[in-house]
Amino acid sequence: MTTGMNTVMITGCSSGFGLESARDFLDKGWSVVATMRRPDMGLLPASDRLRVLALDVTEPDSIARAVDAAGPIDALVNNAGIGWLSAFEATSPETVRRIFETNTFGAFDMIRAVLPQLRKQGSGVIVNVSSSVTMVPLPLLPVYTASKAALNAFSECLALELAPLGIRTRLVLPGQAPATHFSSNARALMADAAEAPAAYKPFVDKAISTLMENASKEPTRPEDVVRAVWRAVTDPDCPLHLPAGRDAEALAA
Ligand SMILES: NC(=O)c1ccc[n+]([C@@H]2O[C@H](COP(=O)([O-])OP(=O)(O)OC[C@H]3O[C@@H](n4cnc5c(N)ncnc54)[C@H](OP(=O)(O)O)[C@@H]3O)[C@@H](O)[C@H]2O)c1
Repeated sequence: MTTGMNTVMITGCSSGFGLESARDFLDKGWSVVATMRRPDMGLLPASDRLRVLALDVTEPDSIARAVDAAGPIDALVNNAGIGWLSAFEATSPETVRRIFETNTFGAFDMIRAVLPQLRKQGSGVIVNVSSSVTMVPLPLLPVYTASKAALNAFSECLALELAPLGIRTRLVLPGQAPATHFSSNARALMADAAEAPAAYKPFVDKAISTLMENASKEPTRPEDVVRAVWRAVTDPDCPLHLPAGRDAEALAA
C-alpha cells in the first residue's frame, strides 16, 4: 500500500542496503535523493527522478547543504552506518566516538535537519536502519550494539513525539548480511583490534568464526532489507520494529 508520497532521501547510498533501496524506490516510480560521501553518478540508472548528492552524516555543514538541496521530501531513510567487531578493551575512545558519530548522532542530526519541513507539511516518514544485534547480546560488539540500541530507544520515543504531527517513525532491524561492504568496511576500521591483549585472542578468533559460520547458514539478503525499508516507508500500519532477514525474524519471534 502506498500513501501517495513520492520523494525519499536515503543516506549511505554508495553500496549495500542504501544503494539497493535507492534502486528499488526508483523502480517503483518514486523520486529519489540518493546521498553518499563521494557522489558517483554511475551507481544508479540515469533518471529525471534521481538526484545524487554529497552527504557525510558526521558533518553538520554537509547535512545542511544536502537537506537544503534536496528540497521537500516525504521520507528519510537513515541507512549510513559503520560496523565494529573488537574487544572493548582494544577499542580506542576515538573509535567509540566515531561509531556513535556515524550510527547514532548522524541519524539524530539528519532527523533534526528535516523535521521543520515534515512538521510544516504535517506528514512524512523517518526510517532508521538499526540492527538485529540489538535483540541479542553478542561478544565483540558492545560499541556497535550500543550505538544502534541508542538509535532504537531514541526512535521509540520519537515515534510517540512525532505521531501527533502526522510523522511516522520506523526501525528496520537487518540480520547478518555478508553480501554488502559492511564487513570489509568494518575490517578496514579495525586497526585497533590488532592490538587486543593476547588473552582475548583465542576467544576473539572463535567468536569471529562462529559469526562467519552463522552468517553463511541463513544470511540476511539485501533484498530482505530493501523490502522492509519499502514497507516501513509506505505502509502506515506496519509495526515500529521491522526485522529484516530470516535470522533477524527468528530472533524477534
Ligand atoms: N551488513 C550487515 O550485516 C548489517 C546488519 C545489520 C545492520 N546493518 C546496517 O545497515 C546499514 C547499511 O549497511 P550495509 O550492510 O549496506 O553496509 P555498507 O555496504 O558498508 O554501506 C554502508 C553505507 O554507509 C555509508 N557511510 C559510512 N559512514 C558514513 C558517513 N559518515 N556519512 C555518510 N555515509 C556513510 C557508506 O559510505 P562510504 O562508501 O562512503 O563508506 C556506505 O554507503 C548500516 O547502518 C549498518 O549498520 C548492516
